[in-house]
Amino acid sequence: MDREFGDFQTPLLLVDAVLKCLKSSGKQWSRVIEPTCGRGNFIEGLLKLAQPPGEIQGIEIQDAHADLACGVAKKSVRTRVVIQRANLFDLHLQRDVQWSGNGPLLVVGNPPWVTNAELGSLESNNLPAKTNIKGLRGLEARLGKSNFDIAEYIWLKLIRELASEQPTIALLCKTSVARNVLQFVFEAGLPIHDAFIRKIDAKKWFGAAVDACLFCVEVGPGKPTYTATVYDDLFTHEPASITGIVGRQLVTDVLAYQRVASVDGISPVTWRQGLKHDAASIMELTYDNHGNLHNKSGEIIVIEPDYIYPLLKSSDLFNALNMDRHRAIIVPQTRLGENTRVLKQTAPRLWSYLTAHIDTFSQRKSSIYQGQLPFTIFGIGEYSFALYKVGISGLHKTPRFRVIGPIDGLPVMLDDTCYFIACNSAEQAAFLTALLNDPLCLELIQSIAFLDAKRPITKKLLQRIDLRVLYSRVNRQAHFLRVRSELERLGVRADLQEVEAGTIERFLDEYSPESQHGEQAQYTMDALFPDNLDVLHSTAL
Ligand SMILES: C[S@@+](CC[C@H](N)C(=O)[O-])C[C@H]1O[C@@H](n2cnc3c(N)ncnc32)[C@H](O)[C@@H]1O
Repeated sequence: MDREFGDFQTPLLLVDAVLKCLKSSGKQWSRVIEPTCGRGNFIEGLLKLAQPPGEIQGIEIQDAHADLACGVAKKSVRTRVVIQRANLFDLHLQRDVQWSGNGPLLVVGNPPWVTNAELGSLESNNLPAKTNIKGLRGLEARLGKSNFDIAEYIWLKLIRELASEQPTIALLCKTSVARNVLQFVFEAGLPIHDAFIRKIDAKKWFGAAVDACLFCVEVGPGKPTYTATVYDDLFTHEPASITGIVGRQLVTDVLAYQRVASVDGISPVTWRQGLKHDAASIMELTYDNHGNLHNKSGEIIVIEPDYIYPLLKSSDLFNALNMDRHRAIIVPQTRLGENTRVLKQTAPRLWSYLTAHIDTFSQRKSSIYQGQLPFTIFGIGEYSFALYKVGISGLHKTPRFRVIGPIDGLPVMLDDTCYFIACNSAEQAAFLTALLNDPLCLELIQSIAFLDAKRPITKKLLQRIDLRVLYSRVNRQAHFLRVRSELERLGVRADLQEVEAGTIERFLDEYSPESQHGEQAQYTMDALFPDNLDVLHSTAL
């Protein structure tokens, strides 16, 4: 398989199932195009139908595959089949595909499963020229900073170039691709309706550990709708949910969302992401039974203690495990861009440890480290040193907020798989943790988070929780009880009446100065440090 071409040929059994699923709509298509047809498995499936289409066009970039597809085409008796050996991105699908008839058009197939980040690492340019997609709001905005699948490009190309033909487009793709397409198509105001997502077992069919589906949209006039009915498999009649755009945002479960939509707004506090260093083998340490610190290769680390902080990772937060002194992290900077070279004088043992492992730092792949000071880390600021925090794992499907207090008097650091709010006091942390764990808030998260994503909880999502509205809607008694147990967890005695009397306004007011203080740094961080860190560690599928 050639990774550059995202090459996963669709097994014939799956082809048959997809075509049967599409046929169940009662529609008939006299023309079918397969934009990246590979060895022609879909063409073979189409030719086997009781009523095959009159014309089929296939496009394929790899000669060996195109040869096999031509072999399939030759077997056709009644259907005109044309295979073009071409790069799809060099063609205009309206102009460069010649049909002999003009009946209803179906676009079917399975576009490449590869991301732009992976193409980058393979030094491949199996991408359209950027100019081709100029003018597409939203996608353009994403281009410079985020990761995307080549299939997303292909979807948009098909919808735009074939819009006048009013086709049905039904392609196998990652479920995340289907969602992104809904978002982009909405942003670009393209005319789609009657979309559905039918999940398929990508592990079984392609050996790929990813959520995938048959995504089908109708392109054409009338009122566009930017939602898709989601089904658990290709044939069930019972929808599992409706996903799509509400307002301007993509929502996982439109009906569940409607119950909690009032809490969806703008967070009055700033969520932060934990420390990013991409050098875990050197920076992350564990304690042995004698209290010695080791790095991942078992070296005992003896450095200036001022640079060592307790560390929690997403699994610790999710399972509420190891919330005591267990792991530690080296924190060489107190703010973004702080000069690390001074460590040579101020912390010579740390400096010599880090320089002894300079290779690990110079091998950090992400471009955010290029041109930075030695041993630079990201996600660091005044907020990292807050003694109390509310944290959540970004990687787990079930949202669980955890109150975090100091360990041995030191602020706890989180890694970049976690998000947190820095708090000014134990009471504030307990209050906010209890508030965020309210069923209303958890329901909001479940209705907007895409649980099949590698990182279901993101900063962007958390930033949508309007804590003021949330507090106005929670059951105060239940909240009060949760505050009490969070304070107990922290081992803090507090006058609970005082905590409740404080109300959210006081906590939010207390929070504001820190929040404003960090704004500029945060802006830089957001630019450098996109929410979806998958962009930095991306692999195909
Ligand atoms: C996921 S495979 C699917 C193949 C076939 N559609 C199927 O379902 O069996 C993707 C196919 O896209 C082809 N491909 C990748 N980039 C292409 C491009 N720029 N133009 C045309 N075909 C391309 C690959 O060679 C591969 O055959």
